[in-house]
Amino acid sequence: MKQKTHFLCSDCGYESPKWFGKCPSCGAWNTMSEFKIKPEVATRSVLQNTKSLNNSKPVRMNEIETENETRFESGIGELDRVLGGGAVHGSFVLVGGEPGIGKSTLLLQMCQEMCKNARVLYVSGEESLRQIRLRASRLGISSPELYVLAETDMENIISETDILQPDILIIDSIQTVYRSELQSAPGGTTQIKECAMLLMQYAKRHSVTIFIVGHVNKEGTLAGPKILEHMVDCVLYFEGEQTGPFRCLRAAKNRFGSTNEIGVFEMSDHGLLEVQNPSAAMLSGHPTGSPGNCIACVIEGTRPLLAEVQALVAKTAFGVPRRTAAGVDYNRMVLLLAILEKRAGMFLSNSDAYVNVVGGMRLDEPAVDLPMVLAIASSFRDKPLPEGVMSFGEVGLTGELRAVSCAAQRIWEGYRLGFHTCIMPEQDLGDNIPKDMNIVKVKSVAEALKMVL
Ligand code: TYD
Ligand code: MG
Repeated sequence: MKQKTHFLCSDCGYESPKWFGKCPSCGAWNTMSEFKIKPEVATRSVLQNTKSLNNSKPVRMNEIETENETRFESGIGELDRVLGGGAVHGSFVLVGGEPGIGKSTLLLQMCQEMCKNARVLYVSGEESLRQIRLRASRLGISSPELYVLAETDMENIISETDILQPDILIIDSIQTVYRSELQSAPGGTTQIKECAMLLMQYAKRHSVTIFIVGHVNKEGTLAGPKILEHMVDCVLYFEGEQTGPFRCLRAAKNRFGSTNEIGVFEMSDHGLLEVQNPSAAMLSGHPTGSPGNCIACVIEGTRPLLAEVQALVAKTAFGVPRRTAAGVDYNRMVLLLAILEKRAGMFLSNSDAYVNVVGGMRLDEPAVDLPMVLAIASSFRDKPLPEGVMSFGEVGLTGELRAVSCAAQRIWEGYRLGFHTCIMPEQDLGDNIPKDMNIVKVKSVAEALKMVL
């Protein structure tokens, strides 16, 4: 039979019989790559051998059995919270992150507790059995119910899984596994898509919880098609600066819980440690009395978190001023520089400006606007903020300050860590705020600067 040729967009997974320079679906250039489909090869051929648990016929919604939703707890509080209280039976979870950030370490550590009441199969396409064993012994993991397999051929993985019948299957990583019927190389769009599809069907049919690891490319998106994110139940991103000790686990999608929660970890010699008190950890060693820094309080999920925003403003030596932002949105920072110039009379157009969040955290909440403005202004005037000051608040385009949510909770967190003054927008706080906290409510950026600098 004749082989069919198709073209597939590596960004969005769009399929077409014709080649395009620009993907008609997502508009990306040069992403269509060719792949050949062998006739009669489909996901079915592998799955046919495995018994199916649910046949698909329409049923009444009320008649669907929902046995008490049980979850596998990992014993790692920070991970369980991000998952929404543990991993749901039969769910399909993707853990993404840059190479070397600690995905394999996290999943291996997760096995330790999960093995106690479930059978776990850890499939690695990247490391040999010996390497996994060495890593596990470094992490202090030794569980009789943890099985390890070094394999990259999907067919073998599925047939071994069929024999072992684990409750939890971990595939490390989706970029290394392949299906031999397909001609493209492992890690390519077609392979990733087909392998993930097969695993998804397996998870649903056999009620096996599957974790897959996915590498993130330099643009920060998952290497491989976007379609991977649509297929899975949960997408967790593991981020952080490799040079710093802190790692942050975030849910980008979660069918069984909130996507706001984050988990904070610290990489140590013995693997990842949970950070129980992230605010204190982020602030450790923060300088007092030096210009260009301000303590911000943001809400991550349900928890308030204090972080130090630093800024450096320096005269541009020549040409176009340089601006860089680490841990905050670049465009937001540029916008705030413009607001400072226009609404507070600060001439920044011929200054370089650098903003950084200490500890490698990413603060995307608008409440970080005011602390960022204060840090930049403090560096520009070369004058430190008074000691014990924290702040939060969103800045509007006219330089006005806008209210943010959970203000009282933020104030309590600052109070707990020894801050005594809070610069914030005009908003109602209720009665439950610390009595000896000095609350300074301001209406505009200009007023905030007048109060503290
Ligand atoms: P790893 O889990 O292999 O990353 P990924 O699977 O995301 O590619 O983690 C690799 C890094 O973690 C490596 O640079 C070494 C570091 N590490 C420690 O610092 N301590 C440890 O106990 C372990 C296991 C790893
Ligand atoms: Mg790894």
